Amino acid sequence: MTARPRGELRVFESPQAVAAALADIFVAEARSAIEARGSFFVALAGGRTPQAAYALLAGAECRDAVDWPRAFIYFGDERCVPPESDDSNYKMALDSFLSKVPIPPRNVHCMHGEDEPARAARAYAQVLVETMGEVPRFDLMLLGMGEDGHTASLFPGTDPRTDEDQLVRAVLAEARDPHRLTLTPLVINNSRHVTIAVEGASKAQALRAVREGTYDPFKYPAQIVSPHDGELTWLADKAAAEALTG
Ligand code: 6PG
Repeated sequence: MTARPRGELRVFESPQAVAAALADIFVAEARSAIEARGSFFVALAGGRTPQAAYALLAGAECRDAVDWPRAFIYFGDERCVPPESDDSNYKMALDSFLSKVPIPPRNVHCMHGEDEPARAARAYAQVLVETMGEVPRFDLMLLGMGEDGHTASLFPGTDPRTDEDQLVRAVLAEARDPHRLTLTPLVINNSRHVTIAVEGASKAQALRAVREGTYDPFKYPAQIVSPHDGELTWLADKAAAEALTG
């Protein structure tokens, strides 16, 4: 079965334009959630792509536009490394913006990559349940996509659909990578709004396969992202979108 294009695709001239659009979505969703429910729950993406958007959030324009004490920060995935490691998604977010905006430290819930993976996954699932309820519903879930079509730390070859009841999974990655921790599709697809930001020509073939190819989330885990009661927005620069036909 050929996958239906899932979600809105917005193509931008440059990575800088993608970053600006992502920061705008963050601010807009924060305002909307806080106005509607008094708080904003967001799960951050790791890796390189979101860093420019995070830097914009620390800039004067965005920094003062978010009611940070009412924002609650979580992570979509984490590498199993100490928080001071340059590979840590938490450290990347802290350095990019969390240390530069007036958000109370208690509002930031990092995954403990320094702990034994299975125990860290159970502990984070407990934090989600205690702070957000039995099946957490994020106002905004920020994701990226790898050249192999992975998202968060849902990698090809591990069927992402196997977590019907797990909220957080320990991913014992291949030798080349540290182990990972990741939110499962159960949580990701319960979000009100999911964004997937993709940049660069190296992602073009994977983006085409994910959006236009046969539906096979075992091979392309990003295809599993389909919020059952929410929005999905893909943000891509021209280079990443160059192979798309639709
Ligand atoms: C991570 C991310 C991962 C990332 C993709 C894209 O921990 O690295 O969660 O899923 O979003 O690998 O990474 P880049 O943005 O660095 O290309």
